[in-house]
Amino acid sequence: AGNTFKYYSESEWRVSSSGKSVPIINPTTRKTQFEVQACTQEEVNKVMESAKIAQKSWAKTPLWKRAELLHKAAAILKDHKKPIAECLVKEIAKPAKDAATEVVRSGDLVSYCAEEGVRILGEGKFLMSDSFPGNERTKYCLTSKIPLGVVLAIPPFNYPVNLAVSKIAPALIAGNSLVLKPPTQGAVSALHMVHCFHLAGFPKGVISCVTGKGSEIGDFLTMHPIVNCISFTGGDTGIAIAKRVSMIPLQMELGGKDACIILEDADLDLAASNIVKGGFSYSGQRCTAVKVVLVMESVADILVKKVNEKVGKLTVGPPENDCDITPVVTESSANFIEGLVMDAKKKGATFCQEYKREGNLIWPLLLDNVKQDMRIAWEEPFGPVLPIIRISNVEEGIHHCNASNFGLQGCVFTKDINKAMLISDAMETGTVQINSAPARGPDHFPFQGLKDSGIGSQGVTNSINMMTKIKSTVINLP
Ligand code: G3H
Repeated sequence: AGNTFKYYSESEWRVSSSGKSVPIINPTTRKTQFEVQACTQEEVNKVMESAKIAQKSWAKTPLWKRAELLHKAAAILKDHKKPIAECLVKEIAKPAKDAATEVVRSGDLVSYCAEEGVRILGEGKFLMSDSFPGNERTKYCLTSKIPLGVVLAIPPFNYPVNLAVSKIAPALIAGNSLVLKPPTQGAVSALHMVHCFHLAGFPKGVISCVTGKGSEIGDFLTMHPIVNCISFTGGDTGIAIAKRVSMIPLQMELGGKDACIILEDADLDLAASNIVKGGFSYSGQRCTAVKVVLVMESVADILVKKVNEKVGKLTVGPPENDCDITPVVTESSANFIEGLVMDAKKKGATFCQEYKREGNLIWPLLLDNVKQDMRIAWEEPFGPVLPIIRISNVEEGIHHCNASNFGLQGCVFTKDINKAMLISDAMETGTVQINSAPARGPDHFPFQGLKDSGIGSQGVTNSINMMTKIKSTVINLP
């Protein structure tokens, strides 16, 4: 089809020989907004082969030149803020202001990565043998960081630009080539972002982008013999990928059920605003969203009242109007959320608001007195529905957090730093935020999930290190 966006291979925009396209449904209108190419396995092969060839000379390109290109791409990306943000609004119904923030944050991330890369990749280690028992001072070891080869990046729909560049920039600065498979919802925003890298002038094959249905090319991509590393953010698919791939490093972030523990001495106004921001921004479609509140019974009534007042002020409607709550990404997602709400209703949760849905738009809903047998106590809705569980001691809260199969982030609200530290230590999550809602950023902070929430650690520095390998050269003296 003439209007179908092209995919990007060998520095060129191409039409797939499949003759097929994949529609992108606007979550607000529920009509086809854009179409992207349904790439074939042969086209994936071609992209992989050119990525493999390009990587060899890219790795030999001076580090400062690689950094310069990334800085250029970052600046172009920021210049293209408006059209990219407009795509995000249409493709994933991200509120207009948040969409613009995502693009700026992405430009900053790319620049930061270039800066960090020249520092940490610009130095290696020098070791001497006589520190280890039995050795004389006859062996000098020099280490450096070398790229892995071809990195495959698979970001999710909720940050198609930011969670793409958080994989692209570390891979490229480290001398890897990169193949991007964007999510279907968000693919056009991602293609536009790739266009910024194209304009910056990256050599042919260093960055490519293939589009298509995950069900058709997903396995083919992730099991491709040329791929040397996968960085994936998303849901359960990540677990399936991890089971199937060969011996390559994986970086995975697979969701969470972030608990927010509120102690009796907490600043309840601060807690309430963080619960609303953490639970309802981008309509709860963030892996780091507050997904269950565990509040001490003695302060629960006051907290619920404060949270409800703020929920009442959230605006609900189209992303173009920059409403707080916008339609969730797909109809099936809305149906899933509704299933969790109905289950909670049947089992006796207290509805603080009436449940209301129009198409993919679900009004913000706080569920109080949620019990352990309700699905919403354990599953992540990825929508604007937040359960509250009342606890009679802090151990109950920690226990609930740790009984989850997820372990991404958690947060605790208290004025007692000693208690906060002990609770942080006890929570089996990759990060614990004290007196703030969970969040991945700032983007140079380490970001990791325990248990089913992921493998490896992200954040600029960790991602660069993960996408490299140590190489040693040992000088042996006579
Ligand atoms: O959805 C997963 C993202 O990594 C969360 O990022 O905390 O910046 O919203 P965020």
